[in-house]
Amino acid sequence: MKHYLQFADLGADEYNYLFSRAAIIKGKFKSYEKYHPLADRTLAMIFEKASTRTRVSFEAGMYQMGGSVVHLTTGDSQLGRAEPIEDSARVISRMTDLVMIRTFGQDKIARFAEFSRVPVINGLTNEFHPCQIMADIFTYIEHRGSITGKTVAWVGDGNNMANTWLQAADLLGFTVHVSTPGGYEVDEKLAFGGKPHRPGCYKVFANPMDACRDADLVTTDVWTSMGYEAENEARRKAFADWCVDAEMMAVAKPDALFMHCLPAHRGEEVMADVIDGPQSVVWDEAENRMHVQKALMEYLLLGRIA
Ligand code: CP
Ligand code: NVA
Repeated sequence: MKHYLQFADLGADEYNYLFSRAAIIKGKFKSYEKYHPLADRTLAMIFEKASTRTRVSFEAGMYQMGGSVVHLTTGDSQLGRAEPIEDSARVISRMTDLVMIRTFGQDKIARFAEFSRVPVINGLTNEFHPCQIMADIFTYIEHRGSITGKTVAWVGDGNNMANTWLQAADLLGFTVHVSTPGGYEVDEKLAFGGKPHRPGCYKVFANPMDACRDADLVTTDVWTSMGYEAENEARRKAFADWCVDAEMMAVAKPDALFMHCLPAHRGEEVMADVIDGPQSVVWDEAENRMHVQKALMEYLLLGRIA
């Protein structure tokens, strides 16, 4: 049994399989072809933080594959009333076939997985957001072909998205140019869990313009992630120069794409003319969450489809 708790839980060969499978599954969806490989299977979705895309993509995706979902939040379950996570994992995984969790610390999801009888998927933690990066890379491949050897510029917070990009670059053979304000740097130990990584898979730049120079993809995220709201004012000040604007896009490659996992704050981490401009693929990126996650759920439950 496999869990998907961080990007490094799968290998390059498995990602190549999942990207080709996601394209096939997306094709079926677009042509209204019925595809119910997960009939009678149930996905439990546990949300300890808010969500639009993650909920809709997992829920719609599971129904489209013939399965059903159970939606739990901290507020309307015993999870919010201090039932031990181990007990929750034992119980929920006896009644369902797959569990998706959005929570705070990675340690929580790791503990849940340890006591779960069924595969567990990370739907975002403070440390990682692997389903999102899988969708981002699939989107890049759809628009531009292989990401191997390419350069991704990360502008902004050294957060869950940034950590996951680092793992993906290490595994899939591209480079991430990271530029964050001082005090918000990526933590290599956290991103790679203290394990060795490919030297040069990421480079740090003090100036976001330098990170964007000749990039194939420019990407950013909110200045304040869920769970860090108390730091909002300090972050607004610190991140003022880390707003992706037309000038940054102009130093990237002429055919560079722009991505943002959303939700976005126009005028903060990205200017409206960039996110709503011709290089932006954010709507494809959001839609692709569903297609890659359908491929992932199929893979975790049924293995490779010949
Ligand atoms: N990108 C993403 O995970 O969006 P939600 O927070 O809306 O799920
Ligand atoms: N980094 C953001 C991503 C939201 C999808 C957060 O954790 O809130």
